[in-house]
Amino acid sequence: METVVSGIRSTGNLHLGNYYGALQNFIKMQHEYNCFFFIADLHSLTTHPTPANLHGNVKQVLIEYLAAGIDPEKATIYVQSDVPEVTELYLYLNMNAYMGELERATSFKDKVRANPENVNAGLLTYPVLMAADIIIHKATKVPVGKDQEQHLEMARTFGNRFNRLYNNDYFPEPYAFSFGESLVKIPGLDGKGKMGKSEGEGNAIFLGDTPEAIRKKVMRAVTDSGPTVENQQKPQEIQNLFDLMKVVSTPDTLAHFDELYNKMAIRYGDLKKELAEDMVLATAPIRDRINAIAADTDYLRKVAEMGADKARESASKTIREVREIIGFRKF
Ligand code: TRP
Repeated sequence: METVVSGIRSTGNLHLGNYYGALQNFIKMQHEYNCFFFIADLHSLTTHPTPANLHGNVKQVLIEYLAAGIDPEKATIYVQSDVPEVTELYLYLNMNAYMGELERATSFKDKVRANPENVNAGLLTYPVLMAADIIIHKATKVPVGKDQEQHLEMARTFGNRFNRLYNNDYFPEPYAFSFGESLVKIPGLDGKGKMGKSEGEGNAIFLGDTPEAIRKKVMRAVTDSGPTVENQQKPQEIQNLFDLMKVVSTPDTLAHFDELYNKMAIRYGDLKKELAEDMVLATAPIRDRINAIAADTDYLRKVAEMGADKARESASKTIREVREIIGFRKF
């Protein structure tokens, strides 16, 4: 069975875009592959979170992934810092990662530009740590977005370089597993692009939002002054609302409002009310589970410990073999 690895940054608070865009695919994959999903808390240290923030964020991500349907009995879900073997492999890979290639990485250049006062070595070697995350389980499939394509290429480079240095084919090549066209794009509520948490207050609906918060955000979504001819093409802010409706509402509801729009008889207030209620309904089971799981620290600890055990079993096997390949003390 092929192995899948994906890292989730510990930023907490998943939104509908994360859920329909990525998570639903993770949930499907857990039935078909040997899946490792981990919370990338070591990576988050590049921005120096306070201990309280780090702790809270990691816990929140774990809660939300479980609530969304990642099954700890099917997939191995773990916290990166619970698996020190990863940092050991990171050290070995660092010996064959070159300054030039690390400095050329787009994500590094972006971060240098955004935070010139915090260009630390961890930031430079972020792709090396990510490579270690992936190849420590000998994964071949990595479900990530387009923005991670270059990091995946670097992971292949580092794995191949190790193989060449030691004359073997120990590490297989990992490839981005993109869900291609089937991936649903979830627009935000600001009338512009996709849903995201950095696009400003009110643009994203979080899985943990209360029904009240959802209604408030949806009612404030950007619209226009209405269609001016029958059957006209919808401007983006209106198409966005219909796209959201396609995801959370029934086909009948969607067709109903589409018809009203085409006949120029639509009232956006009605559409938003329906959309908000359907979002409340669609997220209700997850919201309930978030609340239940958050209250159950024993369960969370059990999941984290079980995940750490399974991940360490896989990772320590690799580290044992890698140490042997490198030539550390055998006597
Ligand atoms: N870099 C990824 C991101 O920003 C997170 C990540 C860390 C990751 N390690 C990984 C993703 C390993 C896939 C595999 O989203």
